[in-house]
Amino acid sequence: MTQGICGSVEPSWSGGSISKSDPSRVELVVVANRLPVKQSMSLGDDEWRPSPGGLVSALTSTLQCRNGLWIGWPGVAEHREPPLTYKGIRLKSVDISQAEYEDFYLGFSNATLWPLYHDAIRAPTFRRAWWQAYRNVNMRFATAAAETIAPNGTVWIHDYQLQLVPNMLRELRPDVRIGFFLHIPFPPSELFMQLPRRREILAGLLGADLVGFQVPNAASNFTRVARRLLGATGVSSTLDYDGRTVDVGAFPITVDTTRIIAKASDPRIRERAREIRRNLGNPEIVLLGVDRLDYTKGIEQRIKALTELYADGTLRSGQHVVVQVAVPSRESDAHYDLERHNLEQVVSAMNGEYGRVGSPAIHYLHQNLPFDELMALYLAADIMLVTPFRDGMNLVAKEYVTCRTDLTGKLVLSEFAGAASEMRGAFMVNPHDLDAIKETIRLAMNTGSKEARDRMVRMRHKTLRRDVHDWAHSFLEALQPNES
Ligand code: F6P
Repeated sequence: MTQGICGSVEPSWSGGSISKSDPSRVELVVVANRLPVKQSMSLGDDEWRPSPGGLVSALTSTLQCRNGLWIGWPGVAEHREPPLTYKGIRLKSVDISQAEYEDFYLGFSNATLWPLYHDAIRAPTFRRAWWQAYRNVNMRFATAAAETIAPNGTVWIHDYQLQLVPNMLRELRPDVRIGFFLHIPFPPSELFMQLPRRREILAGLLGADLVGFQVPNAASNFTRVARRLLGATGVSSTLDYDGRTVDVGAFPITVDTTRIIAKASDPRIRERAREIRRNLGNPEIVLLGVDRLDYTKGIEQRIKALTELYADGTLRSGQHVVVQVAVPSRESDAHYDLERHNLEQVVSAMNGEYGRVGSPAIHYLHQNLPFDELMALYLAADIMLVTPFRDGMNLVAKEYVTCRTDLTGKLVLSEFAGAASEMRGAFMVNPHDLDAIKETIRLAMNTGSKEARDRMVRMRHKTLRRDVHDWAHSFLEALQPNES
């Protein structure tokens, strides 16, 4: 049992069943593409485990405090019955068929919207047939929320897979307060205008009372196209549309700072960090990358830059070592498969050319690591490399900075990550410019400990001011109706 943020005691994991409470009593419903639990895919393991990612830790305590419910998809078409609760939070599962998985998830969500919203780093694919599945699945989520929420309750909808849900839900349940938060970037109008169903998407989002984004730039991209395409009026933080007022704002997500700081001072994790360095051959500098294996993350470009740094003698095997963790993601998508293939080629080329027996130039892990192991890696790393081509926020950057309680460590950060606007102490880089990546890594390597410490202090000062619970509270507070 742990103490929850609302003063209550959080029950620990409950995989079993509880009696169903009166659904009309649900005051707060979270709607997200995925449930907070996922079915373990390991052979012989039929457990449901907490889904990875920041959203679960962000919303768990808020939902516990408010007797809330989480609506989501179990993550696979064929699944066993998910548990009825997770840490005391009621769960409601929405099923997606295999055909919908292909058209809604792989298709419209991840082959149209995902690349388009990430600066069209890969050409977005537009297929008319995918739209119907996107609508159908969104309607299923909206209906599930409408059936569950109490009169005048609050529904908080998450992310690009569910952009039609706000307006669908408004039509089904005009009494409820509806919030929507986009975790990924919202593109500039030049890109958004390419989207064949752009008006429907905007009208879907404008069904909310509050539309939240990671950074102010994304919010203004949205208000611009809402004015232009749907004739919404108003200032940047408030739009008038269809006889209603829609608030728009930036709510930068962050990490569970208390949990991470506790991990960073855990003697077992600190010892594991020392062990990792010993296993790496006690190099002078450990350079670390931790990313979901996604073409938006710039991993291949980064490894190419590191390879050139080995080639010109800036990096030397034995003295320096690179560790790259690539967390498996969307593996049934051909783009991701190709990305993995390309990445593994550059990794093996680097090792083939610059590794030595017993001291490879790069250690590459294509694995989902436990959180504690990730923390130990962060503690073991002298330089953290976070160079996405585009990222809504990037929590790896924030996790690294949060766990460096001794104020050591350096962060190389893409200008195109949402986190960049909050991390002025980072070594900023344009991830599209290979020479700039090399130059910035060189600069980070050569920066002395005093300046590095000053930079870390600045980054921590900003990052530690708010934690993920503050993020959830600030969004929900802004969603409350104005008293005036
Ligand atoms: O960053 C957006 C996001 O949808 C996250 O919510 C999620 O953890 C990640 O991408 C992976 O997405 P998927 O649910 O497709 O595996």
